[in-house]
This record gives sequence, C-alpha cells and structure tokens, in this order.
Amino acid sequence: MDQERRSQGQQTAKMLIADGSSLTESDKTTYIYATAMFGLSFYCLLLFAEMAKSHTWKAIDLQAGLIDSPQWSLNVSTCPGYSLESLKQTQHGLTAQLNLAGPACNAFSEDIANLTIDVTYETQARLHVNIYDTALAQFTLPSEFFDRPAAPPNSSPSLVNSSDLVFNYDASPFAFWITRRSAPRAAPLFDTRIGSLPPTPIAPIANASDPSTGFEAFPLLTSALPLDANIYGLGEVVSSSGFRRDVTGNGTLQTLWARDDADPVDQNIYGSHAIYLEHRFNQASNSSQSHGVFLNSAAGSDILLATPPSSNTSLIQYRLIGGTLDLYFLSGPDPKSVIEQYGEVVGLPTWQPMWGFGFHLCRWGYSNISEVEDQVKNMRAAGIPLEVMWNDIDLYHSLRDFTSDPISYPGDQMRNFIRELASNGQHCSRHLHRNYS
Ligand SMILES: *[C@@H]1O[C@H](CO)[C@@H](O)[C@H](O)[C@H]1NC(C)=O
Ligand SMILES: *[C@@H]1O[C@H](CO)[C@@H](O)[C@H](O)[C@H]1NC(C)=O
Ligand SMILES: *[C@@H]1O[C@H](CO)[C@@H](O)[C@H](O)[C@H]1NC(C)=O
Ligand SMILES: *[C@@H]1O[C@H](CO)[C@@H](O)[C@H](O)[C@H]1NC(C)=O
Ligand SMILES: *[C@@H]1O[C@H](CO)[C@@H](O)[C@H](O)[C@H]1NC(C)=O
Ligand SMILES: *[C@@H]1O[C@H](CO)[C@@H](O)[C@H](O)[C@H]1NC(C)=O
Ligand SMILES: *[C@@H]1O[C@H](CO)[C@@H](O)[C@H](O)[C@H]1NC(C)=O
Ligand SMILES: *[C@@H]1O[C@H](CO)[C@@H](O)[C@H](O)[C@H]1NC(C)=O
Repeated sequence: MDQERRSQGQQTAKMLIADGSSLTESDKTTYIYATAMFGLSFYCLLLFAEMAKSHTWKAIDLQAGLIDSPQWSLNVSTCPGYSLESLKQTQHGLTAQLNLAGPACNAFSEDIANLTIDVTYETQARLHVNIYDTALAQFTLPSEFFDRPAAPPNSSPSLVNSSDLVFNYDASPFAFWITRRSAPRAAPLFDTRIGSLPPTPIAPIANASDPSTGFEAFPLLTSALPLDANIYGLGEVVSSSGFRRDVTGNGTLQTLWARDDADPVDQNIYGSHAIYLEHRFNQASNSSQSHGVFLNSAAGSDILLATPPSSNTSLIQYRLIGGTLDLYFLSGPDPKSVIEQYGEVVGLPTWQPMWGFGFHLCRWGYSNISEVEDQVKNMRAAGIPLEVMWNDIDLYHSLRDFTSDPISYPGDQMRNFIRELASNGQHCSRHLHRNYS
C-alpha cells in the first residue's frame, strides 16, 4: 500500500469523523464507533438483555472522554428485555410488536420502547426475520441499493406449514430459534435463547488492545452454534484460518466496515458481506447439510465467533452500531444451494462483456502516461495478449475521480493513448474511488 494513498485514506477517515481531527491514528476507529453510538439507540442490546444478565460481561473499555458520559450506565444488568405482543398471524408468517418489558435501562443510549417483528416465509428455502424500530427512525439500506425480493403476494399459497425452515419463539423475554422442519428435535440452526448459550463468560478475543475491538463484551444478537461449527464467509477478509473461520482457537472477531487497505490479515477491507454458510453434520441422520444466514445491514459491526473455555457450545455474536436486525435464513441444504439462495436475495453478478474475461494489466504506482504506454508495447513485444490496460486512482489529479493529472497524464496524450488502444481492439479501464466520490 502506497504511502500517499494511505494518507488519502486517513483524510477520508477524518472527514467521516468530522471534528475528530485531533485524534491519533489509533483513536480513530473507536471515535467513529463512539460518534455513531451517541446518535443511535441500542435496542438490540436490550433484546438480548436476558442473556447479558447471566453473564459477567466485561465492562466496556472505551477511551476516556469518548463515550464516558454519565448519562449512560454502560451496564446492561438491569435491562428488561422485550416481550412479544399484538401478535397477528398473516398469510405468509406473522407480525408482532416487541415492547420493552420493564423500565428502560439506557445502558448506551436511549432504549427504543417499541419494535416490530415481521416473519415471512418467502420461499420454500428462505425465511425472512426482520426486527426493526416501529418508528422507522433507524437507517436501513434503501431498496435502490439493491432490490430485496418482494414478499409473496397474498394470492400465493402459504408456506407457513410447509417451508424447509421453522421460526420458533418465546414471547417473554423474547427470544427466537430456527429449526429445519425435517428435523424438529435436532439442534436449531440459529438459537438466541439464553438457555442455549454457553454458561461461561466470553474471554477477550483476538487483540483486545486494537481499538476496533473496543466493544469487547458488547452483547447484541447472539446465537448458539454447535461446538467448533464449520463456518464460512463473513468477508471480505484475508483470513488467517483459511476459508473455514476460526471458532474454537483464538476465535474470530470480524469487523465489517468497508475501507481501503489492500490485504491486512483478519481485518476489514474493501467489502462487507454479513453472510455466513454453516456446514453441519447430523449424527442422527448420518448426513451433512448446509444453511446460510444473511444480515442485511449497512451498520458498522463486529461479528464474533467464539467458544468460551470448557463450553460444549460455540456461538456467533453480532455487535452492531445501529440499523436493524434484518435476517434471512437460507435452508440449502447443500453449499451450492445456499449460494444460489443468497443470490436470489442480493442479486446475481452483472453480465460481463467477452473481453472482460481476457487478460488485464493493472497496478498502483505507474508514474506517468509514458510508463503506461510502455506496458502495452512491452506486452505486445513479449507476445502476451492484453485485452485491457488499467490505471489505478494515481492517474487522477489529487486522486479526484474523472480528472486525470495534468502533468503526469496530460489530456491530449491520454486521448491518443485510448484511441490507439481502441484501434487495436483493446480497452482501457480506470479505477473509481468510491470512498472519495
Ligand atoms: C451493574 O448494575 C448492577 C445492578 O445495579 C450492579 O450490581 C453491578 O455492580 C453493576 N456493574 C457494573 C460493572 O457497574
Ligand atoms: C411501546 O412500549 C411501551 C413500553 O413497553 C408500552 O407501554 C407501549 O404500549 C408500547 N406502545 C405500543 C404502541 O405498542
Ligand atoms: C398452519 O398450521 C396451523 C396448525 O395446524 C393452522 O392453525 C394454520 O391454519 C395453518 N396455516 C396455514 C396458512 O395453513
Ligand atoms: C494489537 O493491536 C494494536 C493496535 O492496533 C497493534 O499495535 C498491535 O501490534 C496488535 N498486537 C497483535 C499481537 O496483533
Ligand atoms: C492464536 O494466536 C496466536 C498469536 O497470534 C498464534 O500464535 C496461534 O497460532 C493462534 N492459534 C490458532 C489456533 O490459530
Ligand atoms: C454414514 O455415511 C457414510 C457415507 O455415506 C457411510 O460410509 C457410513 O457407513 C454411514 N454410517 C452409518 C453408521 O450409517
Ligand atoms: C452442553 O452441556 C450441557 C450441560 O451439561 C447440556 O445440558 C447440553 O445438552 C450440552 N449441549 C450440547 C450441544 O452438547
Ligand atoms: C515517467 O516515469 C518513468 C518511471 O518513473 C520515468 O523514468 C520517466 O522519466 C517519466 N517520464 C516523464 C516524461 O516524466
């Protein structure tokens, strides 16, 4: 990663954090999280307050002055949880209110008193559980961002009693669990009940001094997993444990917060994909099946995979800084089907032109247009076919998208270069920097 590009990234971070210009590099993530925290309400915390009560959660270790406000207790032990009321069975599932089951505890922000839960059996394989603030004040991804599949029309037959997956719940304190209809007595695929979670406190995971782990022991949405579950996904990441994420060793603390850093190990990078696939062996049926869980959220988050000491259960914990809990459960039952079902939710990749599948040459760090022209000539001289010559954002004047640098990449020369590529049936492509544009 080039130094200049790094410092540009820092400027972006400073813009994001507005008045945080006096922060040191290591303060930054904490500050961003803390800023967001002040403005948001942590109803998810309360939703699972029951869980918190029976755990000795470590006090949150945020840097003094950032969230050290006497207004918030930072203590969830008196949080009342929610109870499910006004239940309405619908053609394709149910809808209900989740109301605070006692006085607000305002542990991190003002509790949201009223939530709505919509459960929709959307297809044979897809169960949609959406928990959101009834006032609709929390940020959710607009449909323009990507089209969520529409709820099935009332005229279509109900899958409530026949879909692959089943939504089960306790009304008060509210908790839910998802089972396969074909194996009602097997361990649930997802299970937020306190009785299912490990009885021991969760030890500090990974690098507790890293500011991005400042939310150590911040309980949001937790589900039990089988001991040492086979979990794949939660990218984008260069994972030190390989494709199979570490659940029992050091555990995994995966931050989802898109940022421009090429390849740091185990940290957040360009994309955020809160989807995981679990592949599970069922002793009773002597067979294995896969399912998927997708959290449709744009909120910055940490997702924890862990196995507390001497526990016979592992867990996944979502720690969000806002938004809603909009979950899709995908029944698989094989890995390929899970991926297909995920594609039905988020959309399929765009069609690519034929030339898009040819050889591309790209790097950060060409100094000027002559150097780029030389690459194309050298490829031809070496007999290596080249469909597309790229430039990274160092092409631009002060890294401004769409404006090439007048000295290193003068307009006239750029135009000639592109025309020459085109006359050879070649293409050029430019990075756009979404962080800046
Ligand atoms: C949290 O509140 C409970 C009940 O008031 C209290 O017993 C406990 O000591 C508090 N914990 C912390 C870390 O302040
Ligand atoms: C909102 O929640 C509060 C606290 O639990 C409850 O008293 C009130 O009835 C709820 N309002 C609605 C509209 O459900
Ligand atoms: C599902 O089964 C329940 C219990 O047998 C029944 O009351 C309900 O009407 C069924 N719903 C649909 C949509 O078939
Ligand atoms: C932990 O994080 C801090 C801050 O990011 C870093 O300086 C340190 O090297 C990390 N330690 C390990 C063991 O990764
Ligand atoms: C846990 O982390 C330590 C320190 O980074 C490393 O040496 C060790 O190999 C890791 N263990 C596992 C099971 O990944
Ligand atoms: C379980 O399935 C495997 C592979 O299909 C088979 O080899 C094995 O004999 C089966 N075991 C039992 C106990 O049925
Ligand atoms: C874990 O241990 C507890 C207590 O012994 C037991 O009730 C529970 O069934 C066990 N869970 C699993 C998944 O083995
Ligand atoms: C272009 O960059 C190359 C590589 O850094 C350098 O050798 C060359 O002098 C530069 N040409 C111009 C016209 O600046």
